Amino acid sequence: MLNRRQFAKLAGTAALAAAAPLPAFAAPIVIKFSHVVAPDTPKGKGAQKFKELAEKYTNGAVVVEVYPNSQLYKDKEELEALQLGAVHMLAPSLAKFGPLGVQEFELFDLPYLMQSYDDLRKITDGDVGKMLLGKLEAKGIKGLAYWDNGFKVMSANSPLRTPDDFLGLKMRIQSSKILEAQMQALGAVPQVMAFSEVYQALQTGVVDGTENPPSNMYTQKMHEVQKHASLSNHGYLGYAVIVNKAFWEGLDPAVREQLDKALAESTVFANSIAKEENEKSLAAMKVAGTTEFHELTAEEKAAWIEVLTPVHEKMSGRIGADLIKQAYAALGR
Ligand code: LMR
Repeated sequence: MLNRRQFAKLAGTAALAAAAPLPAFAAPIVIKFSHVVAPDTPKGKGAQKFKELAEKYTNGAVVVEVYPNSQLYKDKEELEALQLGAVHMLAPSLAKFGPLGVQEFELFDLPYLMQSYDDLRKITDGDVGKMLLGKLEAKGIKGLAYWDNGFKVMSANSPLRTPDDFLGLKMRIQSSKILEAQMQALGAVPQVMAFSEVYQALQTGVVDGTENPPSNMYTQKMHEVQKHASLSNHGYLGYAVIVNKAFWEGLDPAVREQLDKALAESTVFANSIAKEENEKSLAAMKVAGTTEFHELTAEEKAAWIEVLTPVHEKMSGRIGADLIKQAYAALGR
């Protein structure tokens, strides 16, 4: 027989055990989401939204750790880390999949191909977008969604109004052969460099200029070290949200379902703020006054288009003439 004290102790333990929710005993599943931009950008805010929703919908069974600003890994390293499972989730720029052997994503880098966010949806939400994400599977990666950033400006310490203005300038690019061909078509000297190194390279004159959407330019303070920028909108920069395939497929299906829901909603969120975030960054740089922003005249823009559109044909061997044709058809061109 139990005495009163023993019974009370046992009853208390049982009551505690009954009251405690099961997930509190199990260690949460940790998803490490690494990226290279500032938290205050479309991608940074999208990652934060995914964290909030994923943790909410799984009742804390999943914890998402977001590592911004290349804190964990730089551009190329982060893709390797994902394949090794050192991180679980990334959202690299579509211009950075070449070194992985999936250079077809460089389609998005073709100058003047995407001219609006509507154009983008026609590609990302259609067969081309789906097919491109599918190509990652063979690399041990699952592509889940596309997140927008925006249309790029070209910056340097001298005005860039016509292609002649680019002659001999060293321009930092992402690791895309299309972007390399683009800069060469303008007469510039392209230089591949990790995003985390760009500010210093501009400051010290290792490169003369670069291209980026305003949100990246502003949050990396590039406007402090670039005297001029052209609002050329000559190209697009956006992201594929990707996960380590084995990790993702190994998750309990009930948990994965909640994560899919969180991702679908954070995708809508990220894509709804991208345009406005870029407008706000541009306005803030104009107020800062360290960079002079140039609108191109119709003739100047025509000269850029004349020099840059042949890049489509020139680089069709790299991404596939059929893929380019399919994209033109989706865009109604
Ligand atoms: C860049 O390297 O310029 C961009 O890809 C950075 C980013 O992720 O937006």
